[in-house]
Amino acid sequence: MLDIIEGLPQGKALDILQSASILGFNSCLTGTNNYRDTANSEVVVITSGAGRKPGMSRDELLKTNVTIISEVTRNVVDHSPDGIIIMVTNPVDAMTYLALKVSGFPRSRVLGLSGVLDSARLSGFIASETGAPASEVSALVLGEHGQNMVIIPRLATVKGRPLTEILPQEAINRLVERTINGGAEIVGLLKTGSAFYTPSAAAACMVEAIVLDKKKIMPCAAYLQGEYGIKDTVIGVPVKLGKNGIEQIIELALTDDEKKALQSSAEVGRGLIDSMRLS
Ligand code: 2OP
Repeated sequence: MLDIIEGLPQGKALDILQSASILGFNSCLTGTNNYRDTANSEVVVITSGAGRKPGMSRDELLKTNVTIISEVTRNVVDHSPDGIIIMVTNPVDAMTYLALKVSGFPRSRVLGLSGVLDSARLSGFIASETGAPASEVSALVLGEHGQNMVIIPRLATVKGRPLTEILPQEAINRLVERTINGGAEIVGLLKTGSAFYTPSAAAACMVEAIVLDKKKIMPCAAYLQGEYGIKDTVIGVPVKLGKNGIEQIIELALTDDEKKALQSSAEVGRGLIDSMRLS
């Protein structure tokens, strides 16, 4: 774990490490302020940067985080040239694009946390609404990680049954709306921080898929080169994650309306990318 604040990553690492005998893990954990200690990492999760304050959108973090993420990415490239970057910093689609450009890594090795988190939020809300265990709910959220995320209720299931057969449209709309505002709701409640537990669980799940070469399909922010009719933009789509990072971009058979929704979500993402004015 690395941070520029002295003592912070060391303290956090020690705290986590001390839970090992209770939680039953044997991992080795080090906190550091020096990138040299991270040398030759296989996977690098970037969470650096400013976080949201109540009332702020993820996009308002763009300017501050461009500087931070550019510098962090250069350090990652210098010390872990073969690493796979998982971006968490917001606005995540734009930051993933930035890391891709600054690193010069292939698109298979730069991806962002979005759909795994948003889908988990939606699944959780569906579970509460229907009374089904969250583990029996499956949901898929695509598009940008923001107000224009693309939620496809017809692909959500509860114990294998389509959600659209279980809940009335009014309830589905309410859960969709709550998912879109899922991060902001937490920021509003905490006031001095944003969500930690589900974002970290989602990032850990992505790391595990890569490190254990699971070839698992998950919605992640990925650079598109024509898939879904979208080019030169990072946006959340289902990808196959394995030891090489993104091993395949999955093109779902979307309806025309869903495809349009994904494309307009990508246009919003593209606008943010343009405003970074990368040469
Ligand atoms: C969220 O809570 C971290 O973007 C993040 O939605």
